Amino acid sequence: MSDQFTLAVAKGRILNESLPLLAAAGIRPSEDPQKSRRLILETNVPGVRLMVIRSADVPTFVQFGAADLGIVGKDVLMEHDGEDLYEMLDLGIARCRLMVAEPSTLAATDDPAQWRRLRIATKYVHTTRRHFAAKGIQTEVIKLYGSMELAPLAGLADRIVDLVDTGNTLRANGLVEVEKITDISARLIANRAALKMRHQAVQELVNKLAAAVASAAGPGE
Ligand code: PRP
Repeated sequence: MSDQFTLAVAKGRILNESLPLLAAAGIRPSEDPQKSRRLILETNVPGVRLMVIRSADVPTFVQFGAADLGIVGKDVLMEHDGEDLYEMLDLGIARCRLMVAEPSTLAATDDPAQWRRLRIATKYVHTTRRHFAAKGIQTEVIKLYGSMELAPLAGLADRIVDLVDTGNTLRANGLVEVEKITDISARLIANRAALKMRHQAVQELVNKLAAAVASAAGPGE
């Protein structure tokens, strides 16, 4: 059947904010994904299934065709070096920004225009290297898997690259934003083969989600 597909959704904030958009597109999981321990959920649409997985794994499932479509943050997509992935739609949800941050004490005298060599702790190793290489700034990037804010406090690195939303986590740890790398939001991605084989089903979903995104944004946006 041409309208069968599997959609992999990053669990957490992206899943929570995706569910209303999917509902507006006519797709509702048959059980509550926030409560269920099932990893693959059927939906009210026969043949359409949801996978709820860790965000860093969404591009991998879609790249290898184990999921036809995915919903994942732009931060994860930028960090994933894979082919056969197409970004179909900016869903406008789970918005935040990828920032360089440092202790406020350092920021008091720091001038980003003078940066030549930086030591940075982050889980966004590739994105960080790319960003600074494009500016001709040398970096020593230390890979962490979470709680990047701890690195300057513990003397591991002077600066971090991390997602910032409200800024509360930075403030609570005496850090300030010093440079924006990019704005982030969740994206709908598709596998190249699925785009060809299930073109109509994918395009229909893209159209419905685009309408849901536009109506969630409201007039004037
Ligand atoms: C993210 C990010 C920051 C925090 C920013 O962490 O890594 O630590 O949220 O949000 P704020 O600006 O509103 O304080 P998350 O809670 O997603 O967990 P993670 O460290 O596992 O990424």
